[in-house]
Amino acid sequence: MSNNIISDTPLPPTISLGPFQGITDHIFRNHFETFFGSVDKLYTPFFTAIHKADSKNLQGAELDPVHNDISKLIPQILSNEAAEIKRFAGFCSTLGYKEINLNMGCPFPRVARKKRGSGMLPYPELVDQILTIYFENPSLNLSIKCRLGYLEHNEIEKLIPVFNKFPLAELIVHARTGKQLYKETANPSAFNQIKNNFRKIPAYNGDIFTLCQFTSLRAIMPDVDHFMLGRGLLADPFLAAEIKGRQFINKKSLLEAFLYALFTDRLRETNYALTTLGRMKELWSYLRWSFDDPVNTWRLIKKTNSIESYEDAVKMIFSAFEWKGSGFANPKNSD
Ligand SMILES: Cc1cc2nc3c(=O)[nH]c(=O)nc-3n(C[C@H](O)[C@H](O)[C@H](O)COP(=O)(O)O)c2cc1C
Repeated sequence: MSNNIISDTPLPPTISLGPFQGITDHIFRNHFETFFGSVDKLYTPFFTAIHKADSKNLQGAELDPVHNDISKLIPQILSNEAAEIKRFAGFCSTLGYKEINLNMGCPFPRVARKKRGSGMLPYPELVDQILTIYFENPSLNLSIKCRLGYLEHNEIEKLIPVFNKFPLAELIVHARTGKQLYKETANPSAFNQIKNNFRKIPAYNGDIFTLCQFTSLRAIMPDVDHFMLGRGLLADPFLAAEIKGRQFINKKSLLEAFLYALFTDRLRETNYALTTLGRMKELWSYLRWSFDDPVNTWRLIKKTNSIESYEDAVKMIFSAFEWKGSGFANPKNSD
């Protein structure tokens, strides 16, 4: 056989865990890595209001290298001010990070109205100005996470020449518009149509909820080498491992141990504050879809109002319901 054969089989892609404000904090990320692994990169939920080089909100465990694997973690900022982004990059570089990510995807109207997050997408000149200043003397590599547009799926076309002017570490595209929030379905074909117009093919994000969906997407975009998983991985934390062909013997007990570790560490860190319950419920709003009775799983979790009642509900769920995995059904589609 000749050594010159070029294989048609694409290399295994990079799989990352998307950031989720209120869910994927450092405690979640660390336990996720320990229990399920299989993600190559992780992103912090976004930071904002970096008013000083050593802003107080940067000082906690979220970025501290003692609590984070800085070889895999990429800190994210939501901002439309080059000076603030530079300040954030400067701080992250002192901690040893290699890249920061700019959030141009946040859809919430109060954010977008101020031309931040996905609200920046209709303004290519603004993006150009910010990137020009950032790349005058960057202290860190910069990647961007964006959407296809704010109002329309084709707004990104006007941004392509802007993005192509700069040495971005990466572009990750969530294949929705800002206006869609998280509703309806993602639009991988719109992504597919424009992906080859970028200097480097962007990473794909949006509605990968099952191995089967991943495989079909991979087939239509074999040249995409990074897929970011979001709600699919919150609903089924084994999804990345499955994509990588890894098997688990007892998924249910591993998941139960993960949830226990997450809950107890969050309680400890917040000095046993009940806000921890809120965070666990957020996660369960996704996880429930991977149990065979999502309605009753959610009913049990939703009504808990103390540490004890939460622990009892979790015990009940694990004894009464079966884990089926990869079950996320977007309830917001029907909104
Ligand atoms: C509650 C919530 C919080 C989120 N927080 C962030 C965030 O801080 N930064 C970000 O870039 N994306 C954030 N996202 C978007 C997700 O990372 C992801 O891009 C989105 O869910 C689409 O991927 P999916 O369809 O696979 O879930 C958030 C989404 C939700 C629902």
